[in-house]
Amino acid sequence: LAVTLMPKSSGQINNLILKNEAKVATVCPLKDIEDTVNSSDKGVVAYCRCWRSSTFPLCDGSHVKHNKATGDNTGPLVIKK
Ligand code: FES
Repeated sequence: LAVTLMPKSSGQINNLILKNEAKVATVCPLKDIEDTVNSSDKGVVAYCRCWRSSTFPLCDGSHVKHNKATGDNTGPLVIKK
């Protein structure tokens, strides 16, 4: 996996999720992820990486609107069975 680090900007990434918390750290036990994947219709689960989802930490497709508005290219972490 190649990762390109971008320079820090002064803007905040998270403008929606748990803004009253000092840090948002989501703990997903592997068992919960497996249960979610196994119970989903398509055998996949998508976790939000754009910080715009109303169902955070799950992706609700809000990254599409964000990408169109900003020219960004964010998308979810997709875990398959
Ligand atoms: Fe955030 Fe899809 S809504 S990655």
